[in-house]
Amino acid sequence: MDVNKEGAGMVGIGSDHAAFDFKEEIKIYLLDRGFDLKDFGCHSRERIDYPLIGEAVARAVSMGRCERGLIFCGTGVGISIAANKIKNVRAVVCSEPYSAKLSRLHNNTNVLSIGARVVGIELAKMIIDIWLETPYEGGRHQKRVEMINALKAE
Ligand code: RB5
Repeated sequence: MDVNKEGAGMVGIGSDHAAFDFKEEIKIYLLDRGFDLKDFGCHSRERIDYPLIGEAVARAVSMGRCERGLIFCGTGVGISIAANKIKNVRAVVCSEPYSAKLSRLHNNTNVLSIGARVVGIELAKMIIDIWLETPYEGGRHQKRVEMINALKAE
């Protein structure tokens, strides 16, 4: 991750109720590994609408307050759809490391979504490690990323 910008190194993290325990375990894992985390909730197993959390994490990434975002819900799908509505956010749902790696190399994804009811916690840690460690390749991919960023909601 880029350590020379404001918000650099900060990882925003959030989940709905379906992924609350999952998020808490991932938090412990990343804190142990020295990451700076900002938790956007939820803070209990009480039911909460995943678009609220997806939006909060995505806005922090979009505004540069966090360099990257990690979001979790039951499938990882709903919360990623919400995050992808926010300008300059490129969220990917991953259940295996290959797509996580390629989404960084080629798509410069800045938010990673995982389904807590889909992916086991140890596999999730592996996916997150690879996604956080892999740099963006740039070059021929930049034009396409800019094309994505230029798309406007209709
Ligand atoms: C909550 O029951 C569930 O719908 C949510 O966690 C997520 O899977 C939505 O995509």
